[in-house]
Amino acid sequence: MCGIVAYVGNREALPLILKGLKRLEYRGYDSSGVALLEDAKLNIYKKKGKVSDLEHELAGKNLTATIGIGHTRWATHGEPNDVNAHPHFSNNRRLSIIHNGIIENYASIKQNLIKKGHVFLSDTDTEVLIHFIEDIHLATAGSLESAVKLALKEVVGAYAIVVMSVDHPGQLIAARKGSPLVIGVGEDEFFFASDATPIIEYTKDVVYLDDYEVAIIKDGKLSIQNLDNTETIPYIQKLEMELETIEKGGYDHFMIKEIFEQSRSIGDSMRGRLRSEDAHLQLGGLNNYLDKLAEADRIIIVGCGTSWHAGLVAEYLFEELARVNVEVEYASEFRYRNPVISEKDIVIAISQSGETADTLAAIELAKSKGATIFGVCNVVGSSIARATHAGAYTHAGPEIGVASTKAFTAQVTVLTLIAIAMAKRKGTITEETYRQLLIELEHIPEKVAKVFENASKIKEIAFIFTYARNFIYLGRGLNFPVALEGALKLKEISYIHAEGYPAAEMKHGPIALIDEDMPVVFLATRDSSYEKIVSNIQEVKARKGRVIAIVTEGDKLIPGMVDFVIEVPQTHEMLTPLVSVIPLQLLSYYIAVMRGRNVDQPRNLAKSVTVE
Ligand code: M6R
Repeated sequence: MCGIVAYVGNREALPLILKGLKRLEYRGYDSSGVALLEDAKLNIYKKKGKVSDLEHELAGKNLTATIGIGHTRWATHGEPNDVNAHPHFSNNRRLSIIHNGIIENYASIKQNLIKKGHVFLSDTDTEVLIHFIEDIHLATAGSLESAVKLALKEVVGAYAIVVMSVDHPGQLIAARKGSPLVIGVGEDEFFFASDATPIIEYTKDVVYLDDYEVAIIKDGKLSIQNLDNTETIPYIQKLEMELETIEKGGYDHFMIKEIFEQSRSIGDSMRGRLRSEDAHLQLGGLNNYLDKLAEADRIIIVGCGTSWHAGLVAEYLFEELARVNVEVEYASEFRYRNPVISEKDIVIAISQSGETADTLAAIELAKSKGATIFGVCNVVGSSIARATHAGAYTHAGPEIGVASTKAFTAQVTVLTLIAIAMAKRKGTITEETYRQLLIELEHIPEKVAKVFENASKIKEIAFIFTYARNFIYLGRGLNFPVALEGALKLKEISYIHAEGYPAAEMKHGPIALIDEDMPVVFLATRDSSYEKIVSNIQEVKARKGRVIAIVTEGDKLIPGMVDFVIEVPQTHEMLTPLVSVIPLQLLSYYIAVMRGRNVDQPRNLAKSVTVE
C-alpha cells in the first residue's frame, strides 16, 4: 500500500513524479504529495484526495526542480487529510521523507523525541521516522546516510523510504524492508518507485533493492550498502514490461481491459510450457523439484482474497489429478496459528502482487519449519517471488485494476499445469487423460474469447440488477470457489453485499434469505454435479428467488427453469473455472459502472496489501 516515486537528474521532476504517482494510484489513493528541492529550498505540497487533486492544486505554479520525491497514500496512521499526507518534514524542516509500510515502534520513539522538544504535526508513523533520522544525524554529526542506517536499525516494522535533504542537493537516500522498491538507472538520472511502472518510459535498466539495503545517489552515482555499511555491486536487470501494458488502450477502465485480455493472458501463462501435439509439459522453475512434489505427503496452499480462491480451485485439481492431500489456508490465519509443518510438506504461495504481507509472513513461517516453498506470482522480482525456493510466474502482465481478474485465471492456469505435471510424474492419471487435458488447455483461450460474445447480454442482466441490495452465488465442486470469487468481485467494486456458498449448503441456513428480491447466481455448467445443481436451482425457484444461471452452451433444461442464462463453452470439467468465472467478472464490472462506482479504485481498498 502507498506508492512512492522519486527522481534526480536533468528533467523537471514534478511532471514525472505526478505521472508516476498516477500509475501507482492502484496502491493507495486517499491523499498525495510531493517535495521538491529548488533554489536551496525544500518545499512540500500535499493534498487530500487523488493525485489529480494535487495536480490541480499545483497547476500554473512554476516548479522546475530536477530533484523531488512523491507519494500516494493508503492511510494507516491518521485519517486521510492534507496534514497526514506524505512527504513529511523533519523537525528543523531540512529533511523530508516518503514512506510505504508501517513503523510499529513509532509510539515509543515519538515519546522520546517529544521529550527532546520535537513537535509533530501529523498522526503518522512516517513523520516520527524522519524526526528520528534528524535527531540521530544532529547527535552523531556523521553523514546523512549513516543517520538513516542507524535509525533503521532501531525501527521495527516495514518500510520503503526515500529521504531528501536541503543540505545535500542532488542526493537521495532510499531503503527497504518488507515493502518493494525499484531503482531505475538512466543516463545521469535515477528513479525510485514502488514498482517499475513509473520508470519504464525512461529506462529499462532497473535494480530491485533487497531488504535491509540502502541505496544512495550522490554525485551522480548509485551505491548500495547494507545497514552495516558493506557495499554491494548493483545488479542491473532489463525490464521486460512494455508501456502499452500499463495503459488503458482505449478502454474506460483497466478492469474491463484486463477482463478482455484473458484470452491472451491465459495463453501467455501456458506459452513455452505446454505443447499438446507431442504431449510436452514443462515448468522451468519446477524442474528440479518435481520429485519432491511427487513425494510430498501434503501440499499447503496459502494466499489471500482472489489468490486464496485460486488456491481452492487448485485443491480440487491436486486432489483429483495428483491424489495428494491439500490444505488451503488464509495466509493471515496460518501465520498466527501454530501450524504443524514438516520438511515433507510443500507450501504453494499464491500472490498476484508478490508483496502481500500476510502471504510473505506465512512463507517465512513455513520456511523456518523446513517446508519447501513454491511461489505462483505475477510480478517478476517481487518479494514473494524472491522469498520462495522455486516457482512459476503467471505471466498475466501488469494487473492495475484493484479487482483481480486476469491474475486469477492465470493463477488457475499455472496451478493446473503444476497439478497435471505432478499427476503425470506420480502416474495418477492415464496417458489419455493427460493428453486430453493438454489439448483442452490449449483451447481455453478461444473458449474464453467465446464468452466475451455474451458481453452485451451480461450488460442487460447487469442493468436489471443494478440496484439489488444483496446477491448470492452458488456452485459445487470446482465451481464453488468460482462462486466465492464472483461474490468477492461484486462486493469489492459495486459495494453490494454478496455471499458465495457451496450450493448444497443453502439448506443449512442461507435459504432463509431467499425471496423474490434475492438474485441468485448459479454456476450450473454440465459437469459431474449437474443433476445436483439442478435440484438446488429448483429449491431456490420454489422460494421465488431470481436465478441467473451460468450454463454450458446448448443446455436445454436449465433455461426453462431460471430467469436468465449466460452460456459458456463446454470444456474438460477440471478446467471449468477458467471459463465460468468470466461472466461473473463482467457482471460485477457492468453493475459497478452502472452504479457509478470507481471501478479501478474502489473505496477503502488497495491493490497491494503490504500491511497485515
Ligand atoms: O497480490 P495478492 O494476490 O497477494 O493479493 C491478494 C488479495 O489482496 C487480492 O486478491 C484481493 O482480494 C483483490 N482485490 C481481489 O480482487
